[in-house]
Amino acid sequence: MSPLNILFAASEAQPLIKTGGLADVAGSLPVALSHFGHDVRVVLPGYPQAIERALPLHPAATLQLPGSLEPIQILEGWLGARIRLYLIDVPGLFDRPGNPYTNAYGSDWEDNPERFALFCRAIATIALDHADLNWRPDLVHCNDWQTGLVPALLADEGSRPATLFTIHNLAYQGVFDRAAFDRIRLPEALWSPEGLEFHHYFSFIKGGLAFTDWVTTVSPTYAREILTPEFGYGLEGLLLHRTDRLKGVLNGIDYEEWDPASDPALPQHYDADTFDLKKINKLRLQQEMGLPEDENAFLFGHIGRLVEQKGVDLILGILPGLIKQQNTQLVLLGSGDSRLEQALRAVAEEHPDRVAAFIGYDEQLAHRVEAGCDCFLMPSRFEPCGLNQLYSLRYGTVPIVHRTGGLADTVVDATPRNLLDDKATGFVFNQPNEGALWRAIERAIEFHRRPPVWWEKLATNGMKQDFSWEASAIHYLEIYRQAIDEPSPNPLTTID
Ligand code: ADP
Ligand code: GLC
Repeated sequence: MSPLNILFAASEAQPLIKTGGLADVAGSLPVALSHFGHDVRVVLPGYPQAIERALPLHPAATLQLPGSLEPIQILEGWLGARIRLYLIDVPGLFDRPGNPYTNAYGSDWEDNPERFALFCRAIATIALDHADLNWRPDLVHCNDWQTGLVPALLADEGSRPATLFTIHNLAYQGVFDRAAFDRIRLPEALWSPEGLEFHHYFSFIKGGLAFTDWVTTVSPTYAREILTPEFGYGLEGLLLHRTDRLKGVLNGIDYEEWDPASDPALPQHYDADTFDLKKINKLRLQQEMGLPEDENAFLFGHIGRLVEQKGVDLILGILPGLIKQQNTQLVLLGSGDSRLEQALRAVAEEHPDRVAAFIGYDEQLAHRVEAGCDCFLMPSRFEPCGLNQLYSLRYGTVPIVHRTGGLADTVVDATPRNLLDDKATGFVFNQPNEGALWRAIERAIEFHRRPPVWWEKLATNGMKQDFSWEASAIHYLEIYRQAIDEPSPNPLTTID
């Protein structure tokens, strides 16, 4: 089959700019696709960190687009060794310190609609080969609401590329008021319930969901969950309408970056055959985090954005019980909601010999937490895919997860039957509440008290799972071909 040209559009990508799992995916899926011989190029906003980390860059084209008084430069460089990179350089919109979406106080930038609408316009211009880059993609792979307007902008174009829109998290939709729609000067025809209008508001994500040729989400279970009111946030009707074009494709992980046998962030390398060496990482992590160094302590870990989704409040809720148990410790790494940050700091101060919290973002420490802990807690209320449980499995750190979304698809509960069949990889609980989380933790503690070979078997079962990108990349390629061969009609011209 002929190689494809694929433009991969996202608002963050490792190692240039990252706030969460989207960056891991945008930094590694394009590489996996390119291994099959396709020309995959990534386009990102020109944030200052991204520009600095991607240097050297050269100006490849200049665009004049509605919504920007200044000319827009497309800076060209490389993301890693083999992926061509385009950064959309609009200093007035993107040259700001810190987080890509929020200001120093944690509030969304007020001009986010303008910022990401311009990003979408630039992507659409490249997609149509109107940017003088001399390259025409067969398909644009859009990710999350920040790229949602791209399929809508392309829908009416005669010779448009195919589009695929991936939902990484339906909780973030890019919804603004009508005035933002007016300021952006989008065609009035797009303001309709079949278009970008969402209960009298302006929705970026609807541009992705309604106008794209195919919709994917990042796990099969989440693809089903979002068809229900509980997880669909009012978009379940539209998604149900599109089910023949909706699929769940499980995320993979970068097996080079996340490999306990070669990870440069770790004090001690190990693999499934040298599992016993893992405990050296535990001792070093305890030392780094100021906990008593004790290889027999049962060390739990958690890493994540401190938001309602991740269920950190449930971890806080079970803490008194956890501390009552003999010789347990907990390491927390996260940033986000300031009340949760304060609460984590407070428990760490109150129990310095049992709980350590690092409030902030530290990529290297995340690797050491994954390697040093015995168990990883992931009580997410919902989880489109989740990457930390996959990193945990790869690092022999047994995950304890709520049965939802990608967590349900990737962790196999340690039931007697699954243990007997050598399939068990973690502890799974059914309800996102403290009682259910606590019972799963108790099961883990009890299991850890058995002869050590039992625990090692469970942990190394996880290490032997294959969550590399290859299978998922093949799945995406099949969907790309279907999207190219059978485009979806424009929903605004097919209203009957
Ligand atoms: P989400 O995308 O919803 O945040 P994922 O589990 O898919 O959740 O991905 C989270 C990614 O962000 C992982 O790579 C995780 O290690 C990383 N991460 C989250 N918070 C932090 C932090 N405070 N420090 C370092 N890495 C973090
Ligand atoms: C989102 C989801 C997370 C997923 C990640 C990458 O941020 O919350 O579950 O793993 O995107 O797809």
